[in-house]
Amino acid sequence: MQVIKTIAEFRALRVELSRKSFTVALVPTMGALHTGHLSLISKAREIADMVVVSVFVNPTQFGPSEDLGRYPRPLEKDLALLEQERVNILFLPEAGEMYPPSYRTYVTVEELGQKYCGQFRPGHFRGVATVVLKLLNIVQPTVAVFGQKDAQQCVIVQRLVEDLNLDAQIVVCPTVREPDGLAASSRNEYLSAEHRRAAAVLHRSLLRAEEGVRSGERLSANILEGVRELILGEPLVRLQYAEIVDPQDLSLMAILDRDALLLLAALVGNTRLIDNTLLRP
Ligand code: PAJ
Repeated sequence: MQVIKTIAEFRALRVELSRKSFTVALVPTMGALHTGHLSLISKAREIADMVVVSVFVNPTQFGPSEDLGRYPRPLEKDLALLEQERVNILFLPEAGEMYPPSYRTYVTVEELGQKYCGQFRPGHFRGVATVVLKLLNIVQPTVAVFGQKDAQQCVIVQRLVEDLNLDAQIVVCPTVREPDGLAASSRNEYLSAEHRRAAAVLHRSLLRAEEGVRSGERLSANILEGVRELILGEPLVRLQYAEIVDPQDLSLMAILDRDALLLLAALVGNTRLIDNTLLRP
């Protein structure tokens, strides 16, 4: 695996890859790799000749009181996993390489970036959209692979690519879960044993919603009531929001007359976790 730390070096390599007519798949990550990330890498392997993984803990997507400083950075372990997954190129820039002192440009995906997680993390999706645009410009992938775990992020990235006429095709992979249903996440490492056990209620609440839809419930309010009730019963978990939304434009859906996305975010102790499921009436 080639490890590339500068944009200039990456550009030179990219010219070589184009000369060889290789297709390139990019998997953007913030490192602390887990089974969710690895599933994106195997998808990338399937669809392209060359797999590029970026590991960059993007400072612009963290709020001032968030966990940028303590976000896990187990570089040696990540390197071993990437080698094991036969990743061709690791793009590993320093913060100063991506955001030099003269840096001034940010991208905002209006509306979509302000609701749900955007309300609890002001500026978060501006940072995500900005870094994803930069990575797509630097790497110029044929395909970029993202995880459904971050459903709002996927919708925002798809909008960015369409609105700014970017070339990359966006592929979304299903959420990978732990045996008890908790979605794999780098932030799960923050959880104490007790909080880790409590966190499983999030997935159970999604299952309850799916079950409600299967048994004929079509009112979002009733489905959400069941979700909130279950989460309220777990004192270590504080729900931030649970909403049922249109999977394309994230607008609220009161009635399930078509496929809908149930999105939720909660604090488990001090750790903020998100999850979602597609409801198919
Ligand atoms: P990060 O949280 O490291 O996630 C990188 C990618 O892995 C994202 O596309 C995310 O949706 C996916 N992913 C995370 N957990 C997953 C799971 N359990 N199952 C499937 N996919 C999962 O998301 C980011 O980083 C950043 O915002 C980034 C896009 C890299 C921009 O900085």
